Amino acid sequence: MKDININENDLSWDEWDELQSPRPAESEFDEVVDQAMSRRGFLGAALAFGSGAAVMGTGTLLSSTSAQAAASRFAFDPLPIATDFTVHVPAGYSWAPMVRYGDPLFSDAPEFSQTAALPADQADRVFGENTDGMELFEIDGHEVIAVNHEYVNLSVNLPERKAIVDAENEKAAAEAAAKGEEAPKKISLRPGSAAEVETIQKLQGVAVFEVARSENGWSVVVDSPFNRRITHLTEIDIAGPAAGHDLLKTAADPTGTKVLGTINNCGSGRTPWGTYLTCEENFNGYFGSTDESFERPEDFKRYGIGLSGRYAYETFDPRYDISQNPNEPLRHGYITEIDPSDPNATPVKRTALGRFKHENAASVIAPDGRVVVYMGDDERGEFLYKYVSNGVYVPGGDTSTLLDDGKLFVARFENDLTGRWVELTPEATDMSEAEIRIYTRMAASKVGATTMDRPEWVAVNPISAQGYCALTNNRNRGVKPNAGGDDTAVNGPNPRNENHYGQIVRWYPANDDHGSDAFRWDLYVMAGNPTVHDDAYGGSANVNPGNMFNSPDGMQADSSGLLWIQTDGDDDNEGDFAGQGNNQMLVGDPATGEIRRFLTGPNGSEVTGLTWSA
Ligand code: FEO
Ligand code: CA
Ligand code: CA
Repeated sequence: MKDININENDLSWDEWDELQSPRPAESEFDEVVDQAMSRRGFLGAALAFGSGAAVMGTGTLLSSTSAQAAASRFAFDPLPIATDFTVHVPAGYSWAPMVRYGDPLFSDAPEFSQTAALPADQADRVFGENTDGMELFEIDGHEVIAVNHEYVNLSVNLPERKAIVDAENEKAAAEAAAKGEEAPKKISLRPGSAAEVETIQKLQGVAVFEVARSENGWSVVVDSPFNRRITHLTEIDIAGPAAGHDLLKTAADPTGTKVLGTINNCGSGRTPWGTYLTCEENFNGYFGSTDESFERPEDFKRYGIGLSGRYAYETFDPRYDISQNPNEPLRHGYITEIDPSDPNATPVKRTALGRFKHENAASVIAPDGRVVVYMGDDERGEFLYKYVSNGVYVPGGDTSTLLDDGKLFVARFENDLTGRWVELTPEATDMSEAEIRIYTRMAASKVGATTMDRPEWVAVNPISAQGYCALTNNRNRGVKPNAGGDDTAVNGPNPRNENHYGQIVRWYPANDDHGSDAFRWDLYVMAGNPTVHDDAYGGSANVNPGNMFNSPDGMQADSSGLLWIQTDGDDDNEGDFAGQGNNQMLVGDPATGEIRRFLTGPNGSEVTGLTWSA
């Protein structure tokens, strides 16, 4: 996934973004490095204190001594790293696949084939691939899972097209070799027909399906009335402050209130009233222009919307052609609410929660009954957000507008371990309520939000008032500004330049009230490699050669308050990542700081999608 010169299909989403919209180098680079170096020196010195309640840079971290002194709550032996192609769990635990790409959700699903693409008219009858966020719901005695299908691997989904492209590349290479020339740049695998685009549009999105247990374990209940696919072509309502705004109107939808599809569904969330929240992340990558001279407005650049979409949608579906439908990208990048109990319910995009590269949505009820939703914007140097409803949640009451009518805040962290949620208001941003929800990144920049090291999942501790955000990594920290030009010199919760390990920031809302504007914060863990580095890149004191990892991403707190951490990072097990092995799931005890490895995934995979059954 790392060689950005070979084939665009091999790029991660953020590598692809970088290729489409290269960022300018920081103009005052020397000054940034000076600041960063002095802080790095401070961190290194603080680390050298070793045991005791070490204060590291701007965040307090539990020392390994205090972690060991406290009784461990983990009833399993920590797992060693793995570098193989399977799943491992500790002794006494087991694992099994439950559903795979291509498995039928309905009995009329097409037969799966390794050599032929699924037909366009039936591609939404099967389970998709690239699963990410997932939640399990208990509905009237039925176990119903909702899971995201974030993106597609074209070499798997379009085998016939792959054969054509491979043959063309081989022919071009052979012709060049015959002339004694260097092989030309390979052409990328992309859909080559409207039908192929429709197939992959129907493979992505969300799957909702019932599962049941038999002597063979858990499996899908084929044809259950709960089963449903929500794809890039499903009709979805648009609600909240941006609904009906001129910026959301298109020729196909002059009302600005109906859209087809929820796209690039990454992390997930669940509401207290039992609905599923699916979070649109790298939506920008689906748009392109058939007119190469199309001048992109500034906001397209901020959001990474380029002239060439990743899957050639713009060539075969004019809705994704920004030269024809420049408002269509403004209708994506939201959180979409889905009712898993009603397969006929129209999903709803909740614009009140803002438009950015949504990772997940962590909901919690404030003491006064208001609904609080924490959300990260996963891009280098983007922000951490919070929504607070104006109304209160009443179990069994009307919840239909709780995610439409509320306030949107962005986090500002201070180096003195305090912070504040800054409300995005028309007064503070000089933007209307609708514009704040559509151009949320620009609104947040205007109020001086803290640039973060790629906010991935947020989790909320159910037994004490604490929130956590996995800041997965940020190779641009201290190197270049974010796409809006905001400074990315090291700051409180993001203390390392060119941060390739990541960290988890924790905040404690004032008065134990998630609805409060004020908080204290610290760093729960700084990932690192203590066998390679003896400075801040070695990680915090609760990281050791036996539990080290990089790039925390998925994260959930269980009902006992333990924090489960899933990784999506470098798994080549070399250099800075030597000894870290494949991506993994660890469990941390926020009370002691102790972290143990519980699961390792197959090489090449991200570990994600943790959910709980009763
Ligand atoms: Fe789809 Fe930020 O992970
Ligand atoms: Ca993620
Ligand atoms: Ca990730």
